[in-house]
Amino acid sequence: MRVTLKLLRYNPEADQAPHWESYQLDAEPMDRVLDLLHKVKWETDGTLAFRRSCGHAICGSCAMMINGVNRLACKTLVQDLSGDTITVEPIRGLPVEKDLVVDMEPFFKAYKAVKPYFINNDPPPARERLQSPEEREIFDEGTKCILCAACTTSCPVFWINGTYIGPSAIVNAHRFIFDSRDQGNAERFRALSGGGGVWRCRTAYNCTEACPREIPVTHLIEEVKRAIMLNQV
Ligand code: SF4
Ligand code: F3S
Repeated sequence: MRVTLKLLRYNPEADQAPHWESYQLDAEPMDRVLDLLHKVKWETDGTLAFRRSCGHAICGSCAMMINGVNRLACKTLVQDLSGDTITVEPIRGLPVEKDLVVDMEPFFKAYKAVKPYFINNDPPPARERLQSPEEREIFDEGTKCILCAACTTSCPVFWINGTYIGPSAIVNAHRFIFDSRDQGNAERFRALSGGGGVWRCRTAYNCTEACPREIPVTHLIEEVKRAIMLNQV
């Protein structure tokens, strides 16, 4: 089939503003949008900039807005999209560096702020710190996050309020807040209950719809809100 790939291009060294460029391509229904981007870069215009690495929905590098929805380019097939025109834009709310590449620093700054690592100041036990399967299950969903930023950059609150920590950081906080072996909640709750924390969330659900790992993001945010309320931070 013949498809038109419309890309929002932007070169900060040459362009005043982003602009659309179209490419006519032959594509198979099972081609990924990532394959089409490679075709343009390798056969037509080597200056096209986008991120990708594993190509198998694990590294989280290729989140883009495809036909108006945040998705992974490596997981989105041509046959998943309706019509023969495919639009690709950078994810929103983060500064565009070039074409489809955004500056991820603000995203990772929010991630680091919730201390997304195990905190326990007790002396290490002789063997492992034990946890039951039921206790492990409570935070299972958050462990699936690949830090692609599709959730945070689909959130209208994040678009208009640059101080909002965003759903991805909250999901990654949830993973440790509900870990029975962890002791770092006082520090995490300080980051999450401030002006840019969980109370900014207006339950828009865009984040849940955007997540390529099918994590119930909004539900996890609600659980974190409840945990903070119960601790009365
Ligand atoms: Fe990506 Fe989902 Fe993690 Fe958000 S929660 S960063 S959408 S994997
Ligand atoms: Fe935003 Fe998700 Fe809340 S889209 S407003 S973080 S439910």
